[in-house]
Amino acid sequence: MKIDLIAGARPNFMKIAPIIDAIHNAQKVGDNINYRLIHTGQHYDKNMSDSFFEQLSIPEPNVNLGAGGGSHAEQTASIMIGYEKLLISEKPDLCLVVGDVTSTMACSIVAQKFQVTVAHVEAGIRSGDWTMPEEINRLVTDSITNYFFTTTHEASINLKNSGIGKERIHLVGNTMIDTLLKHRTRFQKPIVWDKLNLSKGAYMVMTLHRPGNVDEEGKLKLLINEIISHSNNLPIIFPVHPRTEKILQKTGIHNNRLHMIEPLGYLEFNYLVENAKAVITDSGGITEETTVMGIPCMTLRNNTERPETVNVGTNELIGTNPKAIKPAMEKLFSGNWKKGSIPELWDGKSAERIVSILLKIFLIDK
Ligand code: UD1
Repeated sequence: MKIDLIAGARPNFMKIAPIIDAIHNAQKVGDNINYRLIHTGQHYDKNMSDSFFEQLSIPEPNVNLGAGGGSHAEQTASIMIGYEKLLISEKPDLCLVVGDVTSTMACSIVAQKFQVTVAHVEAGIRSGDWTMPEEINRLVTDSITNYFFTTTHEASINLKNSGIGKERIHLVGNTMIDTLLKHRTRFQKPIVWDKLNLSKGAYMVMTLHRPGNVDEEGKLKLLINEIISHSNNLPIIFPVHPRTEKILQKTGIHNNRLHMIEPLGYLEFNYLVENAKAVITDSGGITEETTVMGIPCMTLRNNTERPETVNVGTNELIGTNPKAIKPAMEKLFSGNWKKGSIPELWDGKSAERIVSILLKIFLIDK
């Protein structure tokens, strides 16, 4: 069988890497499975893309659609045009998309219109918040997906409740965690560690990039100032996403304890997280990683598509009101943050499960 693997933006790369490993392992035992790796180009900076390919040993993409930049509509259109051209020249048996980024949605639409079967990894998660572009991407992708691979029971139930037959839904666990567990012993001290003389448990890590938090200069400034004021004099390491960087340049925020640095590589970022006192973020994926590493995580959002990180893991939804920062920090520094545990099947074997299910579907059932 031939699979198109779609990867476009930073959070896709760690989800696709273990699937490629699992395909290579299947090939080694003689299974008839091949892939073409397609990078849409949605993320294109070295530190948003190339470094992940190097560190996670992801092979060079077979195709790069070069569709980065522009508005969401422009990005979607240019990914669709690029992928359509590819499908005209060669159609695979399956298009496999991961996560919830613009590339996920754009390629699933094109594939389905070419009658190429679509599989979605990380299907069924829902925040219920239609103001988030990712929620729209999830809804559209799942409405035209043939095979659904889910990270939790809850995601499977969301799909069943939307009328999808259970024979098309496979609970496999979390491929992002496959990557985390595989590389955990290789995490690397980032340069900032020695430069700032950091030590375990004596600093915080912050990431912010959601349009709702960062696109409005005044709101971003308020949030950051509140975090600085209540973080118990600890240094805050803030690897800044390009979207946030554009706004930060205008706000002129400066503080001795706030260390704004370029986006880090995967191994360096997770070294920082694993040794931090806590993480403050508006990312979804990071809440899964902190859950597995047992690090307290404050999420600056009012909802989450990953409720297991709150119900089972170490994550708490703080909301986006700056006033919520102080009580959350007090809870952390008084030692009362919950301990958490690891969700079922987040065991490093999810990609293996996906590939063996696909082989069964395509080589035996068809
Ligand atoms: C995207 C994903 C989001 C994910 C995030 C992680 C969507 C809708 N959102 O958001 O789910 O959590 O990535 O990183 O797909 N830019 C650069 N260099 C790059 C990449 C982007 O300068 O390498 C710029 C873009 O030109 C744009 C801005 O950053 O101006 C935002 O990029 P975009 O891909 O639209 O969405 P993200 O905010 O990165």
